[in-house]
Amino acid sequence: VNEQLFGALESAVGPWTPALLRCLTQLRDWMGADRERRLSGYMNQEGHLRAYMAYYLPLHLPEVFWIMDQRRSFWKDMHVERLVDVGCGPGTATLSYLLWCHHVGKELPKEIVLADFSRKVLEQAAGFVKILAPEARIVFERGEWSRMRRLDGDLIFMSHVLNEEGGGPRAREGKQRKLDAFLRFGNLREGGTLLIVEPPLKTPTLDLMWLRDALSENPDARVVAPCPAGTLVCPLARQKLGWCYSQPPRTFARALGLAPWDQRLERALRIELTNPGFSYVAFTFGEVEGSLYSIAVSDETRKPGFLCEGKKIARAKGSVPFRGAYVLGKGEKDSPREPAAFKPRPSPRPDQRPDGRRSSSRLPDSGRKPPKKPKPR
Ligand SMILES: C[S@@+](CC[C@H](N)C(=O)[O-])C[C@H]1O[C@@H](n2cnc3c(N)ncnc32)[C@H](O)[C@@H]1O
Repeated sequence: VNEQLFGALESAVGPWTPALLRCLTQLRDWMGADRERRLSGYMNQEGHLRAYMAYYLPLHLPEVFWIMDQRRSFWKDMHVERLVDVGCGPGTATLSYLLWCHHVGKELPKEIVLADFSRKVLEQAAGFVKILAPEARIVFERGEWSRMRRLDGDLIFMSHVLNEEGGGPRAREGKQRKLDAFLRFGNLREGGTLLIVEPPLKTPTLDLMWLRDALSENPDARVVAPCPAGTLVCPLARQKLGWCYSQPPRTFARALGLAPWDQRLERALRIELTNPGFSYVAFTFGEVEGSLYSIAVSDETRKPGFLCEGKKIARAKGSVPFRGAYVLGKGEKDSPREPAAFKPRPSPRPDQRPDGRRSSSRLPDSGRKPPKKPKPR
């Protein structure tokens, strides 16, 4: 199926003309410093849609796959009859999930809801999704995501969408309000899971960490990834130690069949796609069985590495594999532990507020700089 998908992607992108490269350069600017100038319906523009499929689709394609593969047993056991992809674009997150289902032999969803405000991109996404899930019923939901109702998903993806609402403290509250409303409107089934993925850059990730803590105050919400079991308030956010993102080596993506795409992109754009990153958080609204692990919040190039161990960030005893990796201690495996770790949480104490202003806690490396900024995307 991977080959079929890449074949379809190749024909959808078409020839790599100078016009395509111009759109691609503009799109990359719009996703970074030139964000303010981005057209709101950019996915409805033929050239920009093609450019997105040439660059961002392959860039993001491994993300959901990788997230699921980190906690295989948890995601594999999840009942996903109806999948909802909010701000689906050309279907990137759904495609990633379906590739992973094929990889691990998980049953495919029976219904897939593709939601976006761009009509063109919905049709494109459906074309790709049908290759990987030919029997699934595809439902289109066109419009503004925060006004969508009764989408009724077992699993909802929101991949690289929230940052389109802007960034920084004021935007955060707007995102929280929209998300709260979205969750209240019956879009997630009881016991369902919401997975939000964002770019690894400082502002969208700090916003996501803030949202993570804000959503955790809901007594029904359990953070299931990437945070270690039982983490009530993000210690990285509380102590203002930088931002938490994952940066698996790109070799992982290339194993999915992305090597030729990467080579072409690198040649065309004169860039190096070594290890682009992303940040994410997944919530389940129901009972969940946790697992013991730490997560690397710095990488092997920073010695010593640092691990989030739930309540605190600690120096890694050995080197950490890469930023965002789950690090299992001796005798631990990614298997369920006492559900007690996820029992309803008390509200954070004032000195644990998400903005961290009143916290005076210090890390062993408090004199050090926060983790290095990821490479420009
Ligand atoms: C950066 S793309 C992400 C596409 C895909 N999810 C991915 O991970 O590659 C953002 C998508 O969200 C859609 N979008 C942004 N804001 C939206 C909104 N308020 N309501 C509906 N769709 C929105 C855009 O049209 C675009 O297709």
